[in-house]
Amino acid sequence: MRDFLKAELAALRDDRAAAPKSMREAFASDPQRFETFSLTEGDLLLDWSKCAVTPATMALLENLAEAAGLAERRQAMFSGDRINITEDRAVLHTALRAGPDAKIVLDGAEIMGGVRAVLDAMEKFSDAVRSGAASGATGRRITDIVNIGIGGSDLGPAMATLALAPYHDGPRVHYVSNVDGAHIHDTLKGLDPETTLFIVASKTFTTIETMTNAATARKWIEQALGTAAVAKHFAAVSTALDKVANFGIAPDRVFGFWDWVGGRYSLWSAIGLPVMIAVGAKHFREFLAGAHEMDRHFATAPLLKNIPVVMGLVGYWHRVVCNYPTRAVIPYDQRLSRLPAYLQQLDMESNGKRVTIDGGAVTTPTGPVVWGEPGTNGQHAFFQLLHQGTDIIPVEFLAAAEGHEPKLRHHHDLLLANCLAQSEALMKGRTLEEAEAQMRAKGVTPAEIEKIAPHRVFPGNRPSVTILYRKLDPHTLGRLIALYEHRVFVEAQLFGINAFDQWGVELGKELATGLLPVVEGTQDAARSDASTAGLVRHIHHLRGA
Ligand code: F6P
Repeated sequence: MRDFLKAELAALRDDRAAAPKSMREAFASDPQRFETFSLTEGDLLLDWSKCAVTPATMALLENLAEAAGLAERRQAMFSGDRINITEDRAVLHTALRAGPDAKIVLDGAEIMGGVRAVLDAMEKFSDAVRSGAASGATGRRITDIVNIGIGGSDLGPAMATLALAPYHDGPRVHYVSNVDGAHIHDTLKGLDPETTLFIVASKTFTTIETMTNAATARKWIEQALGTAAVAKHFAAVSTALDKVANFGIAPDRVFGFWDWVGGRYSLWSAIGLPVMIAVGAKHFREFLAGAHEMDRHFATAPLLKNIPVVMGLVGYWHRVVCNYPTRAVIPYDQRLSRLPAYLQQLDMESNGKRVTIDGGAVTTPTGPVVWGEPGTNGQHAFFQLLHQGTDIIPVEFLAAAEGHEPKLRHHHDLLLANCLAQSEALMKGRTLEEAEAQMRAKGVTPAEIEKIAPHRVFPGNRPSVTILYRKLDPHTLGRLIALYEHRVFVEAQLFGINAFDQWGVELGKELATGLLPVVEGTQDAARSDASTAGLVRHIHHLRGA
């Protein structure tokens, strides 16, 4: 913790002692609690009234944000300052969705012309694929897109394609990411080379998983249709245009982006191409516009009226002041089932850091473990622990007021009732007296009540926030993802860390390169530790080598 924030944090820790101990009482004693601790922006609502905060807590969190220079840091990001100091880069994913009239200057050069040009080129290509004008080498229409990428070059578009299924009227889209050959094998098994288009998506165009899968895909096309067919069956998205050229992809099928777009913030760039092909350029532009709307809100709303800021402050409160090590994200929206996986990269690759922006060791916890699954499925799996386990895990619920299936309204009402019931149950809990009374009312014997009632107690006072929106359309998806991006930014400023590098992924990559010949058996494991060497020996033994 930087010294100048120590006083603010100490005040927050003192405040925790005064925070409501019983949320039931907090609601009973303040009929305005929901109004005080909820915010709306258009149809989007954030409710954090079930968290144990008071107006004084929020004021102290605001002080902390001010002391951390949040507003100045936010301005620095939007203005293109090189806030990613360890990579000496600007952080301008917001420019990708800034709209047709925006002008943004970076290092003396206007960048929006380039952004618009790539978006227009994506649209032209996407329209051609969707209409059948850009056919395969044998003249047949493209029916299947296979995106080959990993991390930010996979999770964002894969999550968004699923989220926007009701708008999906283009070719089928598949995502291959894992270097495990099973992934590409099982994906290609049902596909026809004549009607398949691959998009090789990699910011660096060096990532081993993506390059390995791309080479396998190219062989698959070459073997079926000949080498000349590669031009008609591949497109690429990257910042490393020289490396793409070496792979042999036709220049008019290469879509660039820039080093000021972080991998996990790249969904808005040409990395979104498979989404655009799936749902069409109009819907993709609505998605960008939704994100831009959230950017404007984040850039201009006062701190405590600012949804991403409040989510970040509440996140900090739970992580640092309350010391809760994880948070669960539970979309009661089946089409957001990949959102937790997407947020794991966004949040944990950004804020899983142990060194401050100045290079000193952090003195408070940083990013929490983020995990989740959609509701209602999670209720029948891990909710037991959320309600009665020994750890307190803040939960973030997301839900749409309306589904896309008007004829299945009953399903949606059940979904919402469950979502609301879970946050209420986490907050209220059930006392021993209530458990006993309930059992008595059912005619259970006193002996049985004594034995079973303690197991039926819920401690309650378990915090959750709820995000509600009208419908999961492209505009709303854009707002939600931008909201989470900015929330991660807010928390990073409070932690005092750089959210935009990811050095923690390097060591494993380096060691894997060194271990490949050892696994292959062309080099011995002498330089490895005894455990690694023993594991290699056992692999070789199992393979009969
Ligand atoms: O896991 C590290 C990482 O660099 C991520 O940040 C990135 O999204 C992913 O690998 C893929 O990188 P690329 O798009 O360069 O292939």
